[in-house]
Order: sequence, then C-alpha cells, then structure tokens
Amino acid sequence: MNLRRIDPGKKRVAILISGRGSNMQALIQAAKAAGYPAEIVGVFSNKLDAPGLDYARANGVPTAARSHKHFASREDFDAWIDAVLEDWQVDYVCLAGFMRIFSNGFARKWSGRMLNIHPSLLPLHKGLKPQQQALDAGDAESGCTVHWVIPDLDDGPTILQARVPILPGDDADSLAARILVQEHRAYPQALAMVARGEAVFP
Ligand code: GRF
Repeated sequence: MNLRRIDPGKKRVAILISGRGSNMQALIQAAKAAGYPAEIVGVFSNKLDAPGLDYARANGVPTAARSHKHFASREDFDAWIDAVLEDWQVDYVCLAGFMRIFSNGFARKWSGRMLNIHPSLLPLHKGLKPQQQALDAGDAESGCTVHWVIPDLDDGPTILQARVPILPGDDADSLAARILVQEHRAYPQALAMVARGEAVFP
C-alpha cells in the first residue's frame, strides 16, 4: 500500500504517462497550491524508463511502472493498472501522453472518472501527429482539448479547449510547442473544474 492522504477534502488523482510527462509536471505543480481541489496520489507508466517517473519521484509522488509486454493480453495489463489505481484509492485518472489503448472493460469501468488531453481541437485530427494533420489540412488555428475518456480513441465529451493560431512558417514542432504551452494551463484548469464538480460527465 502506498497511500498518501494530504487532505481528505481533495480528490485523489492518478496520472498515466508513457514518456516525457510535461503535462504530468504541470498537474503536479498545480496540485501543490493549497487551494487546488485535487492531489496527485500516484503516477503510473507503461514505460519503465519514462523520464516523467523521475520527476514524479523527485516531487514525492509515488510511482508504479510495468510494461504491457509482460502481459498476455490487453485485458490482463488493464487489470494490473486497475489494481494499482484501486490501491491508490483514486477518484480520477488523468491520461497525459499515455500511449496505450484500453480494453472496453477498463474504459467502461473508469468512464466518467478518466480524462485525457489531446493536442488538437477535437473532433478534428484524432490519433497520431495531430499537429501535422492540422498543417496538412490548412487550418488557421489549432489548440488542445481536455476531454472525458470513452472507449473510442480521442473521443468523448469535451471539458475544456484552448486555441492557438497557426502562423506562416509553422512546422509540426513549432506548432506543437505553441500548443504545449496551452496544454500546461488547460489540463490543471480542467482537472480543477472536475474536482470541484463544475464539470461533470454528461
Ligand atoms: C501531449 O501533447 C499530449 O497532448 C499528448 O501527448 C503529449 C504528451 O506530452 N496526448 P507530455 O508527455 O505531457 O510532455
């Protein structure tokens, strides 16, 4: 058991990552504020060497890491994640660059309690390389979407969106960097709305 109970009035949130974890960092930093309505009680990664894990540990957040490759099926891996989340007594799950698709059973169980962030103005440009998709489509603007997770990939009711312009000369990297600045504001804001009951799964 790895329980931290800082404030029983705060919602208990786990973050799932696969890599860099800059959105995870933004959430951990936001949750340090006294008035923030959620605490980050654990970070899980399916990549044992995800850089985000070091940041979480350095900030006193418990971590768990397990490769999906150790499991015979998607369902078995999801059951393992589910056990970790139950152990942490999680109210909400934030996906932050978690590069795994869930089994329907897991997605259904956590429906209404799981959020994701995607670097496009959903429903535009789901899936991989959404910034390049926006450039290829000739869009004038892009942004990010925080949404409730449902079994369909990059789909589900929107909680919050933030917009950025697409500028002449942009490539996928420059656009991604501009969107990322907004992601780091939007995700903590959306989680706060959820934790305060201002945003509810419809
Ligand atoms: C972010 O752009 C997020 O929107 C997408 O994956 C990226 C993860 O970046 N789902 P980071 O690991 O949070 O830095």
